[in-house]
Amino acid sequence: MDGKETLYRLTDTVIGGRYGIGEAVGSGCFSTVYEAADLQSGVKVAVKECPFPMETDRSLQEAKVLIEYAREDSIVTVFDAFEEDDAVYIVMEFLEGVTLRDFIEQNGTWTMDETLRRLSPVMKMLDHMHTGNVVHGDISPDNIMVLKDGRLKLLGIRTEDQNQNITLTRLVAQARYSPPEQLDAKGEFGSWSDVYSVCAVMYFCITGRDPDDAVSRMMLDDLKKPSGLDADILPAAEKTLMRGLSLDGKERVRSMTELIFEFEDPLLRATMKTI
Ligand SMILES: Nc1ncnc2c1ncn2[C@@H]1O[C@H](COP(=O)(O)OP(=O)(O)OP(=O)(O)O)[C@@H](O)[C@H]1O
Ligand SMILES: [Mg+2]
Repeated sequence: MDGKETLYRLTDTVIGGRYGIGEAVGSGCFSTVYEAADLQSGVKVAVKECPFPMETDRSLQEAKVLIEYAREDSIVTVFDAFEEDDAVYIVMEFLEGVTLRDFIEQNGTWTMDETLRRLSPVMKMLDHMHTGNVVHGDISPDNIMVLKDGRLKLLGIRTEDQNQNITLTRLVAQARYSPPEQLDAKGEFGSWSDVYSVCAVMYFCITGRDPDDAVSRMMLDDLKKPSGLDADILPAAEKTLMRGLSLDGKERVRSMTELIFEFEDPLLRATMKTI
């Protein structure tokens, strides 16, 4: 569907003097996302409306960070962000696809090899972000889109002061994909926190289940190994995955570089076996 087709479906609402708003296509705890058209160019876009005044600064800040990464393929491209009528509007490329959660629920789980193949560009992009001291902080199957050509794209980013401003709703929404240090004011947050979330997403892709949340795991950690849940994963990759999901940040795979390296090794060996 191109921009022209979208123009037929617009409501009368125009924001920023330029973007015609159409149907809602998604929503989260803090926002509604609309199909929209840039009336100047006729291009179809997505407009995210964040109507919470308490979140205004955070939403604008997040959009600013995303605009800096506009050239990266594995994260949504943000064109513009502004405040209007007590809400923040973020204008982005329109992604034709479904969330990773819906995709797996509709089409079934992936093997670990397929998961690694599909997530690899996202991991490399995160590694690049980490070298610039930016941590994504909001990686989950609900915040990854599977495009029609099979590529994955990350949505959003969380830039708030990790240890102070986190709201209860946000905390609950993200709990199964957040490491303990993100849920606890005393924790040390960093690239290893994204390592945990990426491994939690992988766990979901190969088992079809959300991993147990970190708070429950801290009381009683009986997170089942994926191989015990019928996942298709080699022992070496499972060992790395479980180390990525370690509650103790010090025992965890420390960086995205290390995670990519650790996974490449068994993947390489598996590929060699099939040649
Ligand atoms: N650029 C886009 N193109 C198409 N659909 C989108 C786009 N951005 C978001 N959506 C849809 O809207 C939903 C909500 O978007 P998003 O995850 O950004 O908002 P949120 O959950 O409120 O915010 P956050 O995840 O940062 O807490 C997504 O799950 C997806 O279905
Ligand atoms: Mg979301």
